Amino acid sequence: MSDRPDSRNGPAVLLGEAAEDWTGDAVFYEYSAAADPLESGTIAPVPIHRFSPGLHTGAASGIIPLDLSGPLGVPYPATSPALLASFVVIGPGDRVVTVPDATSELYYCLRGQGHSDVERSSTAGTTSGRIRWEQGDVLTLPAGCTTVHTADPSDPTGALLYRVTDAPLLRYLGATATEARFEPTRFDGREARARLAEVERDPEAMGRSRVSVLLANRSAPQTLTVTHTLWAMIGVLPPGRVQRPHRHQSAALDLITECAPGCYSLIGSQLDADGAIVDPQRVDWEPAGAFVTPPGLWHSHHNESGRPAYLVPVQDAGLHTYLRSLDIRFSSTGP
Ligand SMILES: [Fe+2]
Repeated sequence: MSDRPDSRNGPAVLLGEAAEDWTGDAVFYEYSAAADPLESGTIAPVPIHRFSPGLHTGAASGIIPLDLSGPLGVPYPATSPALLASFVVIGPGDRVVTVPDATSELYYCLRGQGHSDVERSSTAGTTSGRIRWEQGDVLTLPAGCTTVHTADPSDPTGALLYRVTDAPLLRYLGATATEARFEPTRFDGREARARLAEVERDPEAMGRSRVSVLLANRSAPQTLTVTHTLWAMIGVLPPGRVQRPHRHQSAALDLITECAPGCYSLIGSQLDADGAIVDPQRVDWEPAGAFVTPPGLWHSHHNESGRPAYLVPVQDAGLHTYLRSLDIRFSSTGP
């Protein structure tokens, strides 16, 4: 039996209409008072923020969120409006369980080796499997996963993972992720490094804006991203190199996997006539540290250390590409 109002019986009466006027939350703004909430300050900008490796050094097994919910003005853990990054520390033989409400989880193994036992629940039932990982591997998990991450007991330093999920996006939407959009996927770290070395050897590499490999999933043939919401890159910044400024509307949660002192990013809102960033904020890199590059700001990377540096930025650029709002731009001149 249909629950639609039947027009043959006269106009439908909607719930509450007869007793209430429903206007209590309705607001009218003069256009210029509400057209740019970021400019007027009613919504907070994404801050440039650096997270020290001291956050996880010597820490007990557990999940350490890189939480900027205070500056972002949201009542749930978040590193950027849509994403939450964390360090996951797992002592030798220890286990850490993750049960996110997210459409996408991404893990990068910074140290150690171990495995993740993944149990997926869906309307079709429950399935489970084990994924082994080691330093340099990347793992992506879809919605509906309860996962037990275990570090090998043989490794006295245990394991350290960098994790990014889109849980804040779902909290903002008031939605629960129920449908997996891709299969659990492992990106082999050795293969990624080999592909990166191939790109670096290419004689045209010096002319490119980035020496890097983008991770992608067959399930995202339009956005060409690591999941339908997340974007991830494995990059090298060779010694003496400057990567020219660029900008995009996705927020970047940049992980530095390896570097010597003398590597840094410059971040700012404007370029000068030579294509250099005006009055930039400098963010020094630290191995196994992370930092946030806000959406829309120009950023360049610099390596004055004499040794190659490696980075793994993770962004919400899968979502932005779907929305056609990524707006990536490169400085055409300058450093
Ligand atoms: Fe970027």
